[in-house]
Amino acid sequence: MTKAKSLKLVVLVSGRGSNLQAIIDASEKKTIQSQIIHVISNKEGVLSLERCQKHGIPYSVIPSKGKERDVFFDEVLNKVKSLNPDLIVLAGFMKILPEKFVKAFENQIINIHPSLLPKFTGLNAQKQALEAGETKTGCTVHFVDEGCDTGPVILQKEIEIDPKDTEETLSARLLPVEHECFVEAILKLENQELF
Ligand code: GRF
Repeated sequence: MTKAKSLKLVVLVSGRGSNLQAIIDASEKKTIQSQIIHVISNKEGVLSLERCQKHGIPYSVIPSKGKERDVFFDEVLNKVKSLNPDLIVLAGFMKILPEKFVKAFENQIINIHPSLLPKFTGLNAQKQALEAGETKTGCTVHFVDEGCDTGPVILQKEIEIDPKDTEETLSARLLPVEHECFVEAILKLENQELF
């Protein structure tokens, strides 16, 4: 069996950062060998940044607001290149990466999405699952390609939908499953030669 690899992670966020927290905790507890070397947020003042401060993780804010998409992503790409990560983790990063970015880090970018892809891509995936009358949903960690939530699947986890579920209750029940799924997906990558 190959030895688990410690990966240098750069995490991209836009908000609350509960998935970021799950990765921080797993790294601190050595559930995963990988280390977060830097976090980049496209928004100021978000909870993700407080989590970084609390855990002594370096971070940058590269605002996307009021900026041309290409200009914003060139700034992010330059920053990420300078950090030389093994893996880029999109954890609630609410932007679709341009082709240039994806090509620069082929098979080195992963994302979490709150549905059983290929079902329900894009925003409000839990609401989409409810409206479609599904009896189960889940989450997916996948490699990022140029599409929206379309790259090859690394890991999925399912949960039952309760007939009484609302978008809020379903999202709340799914979130801890997302956290497990992200950590397990990183473990899977640590244990395989996928890079
Ligand atoms: C999660 O539901 C994730 O699947 C989606 O955005 C949400 C981010 O939550 N892409 P958090 O910022 O990790 O708490």
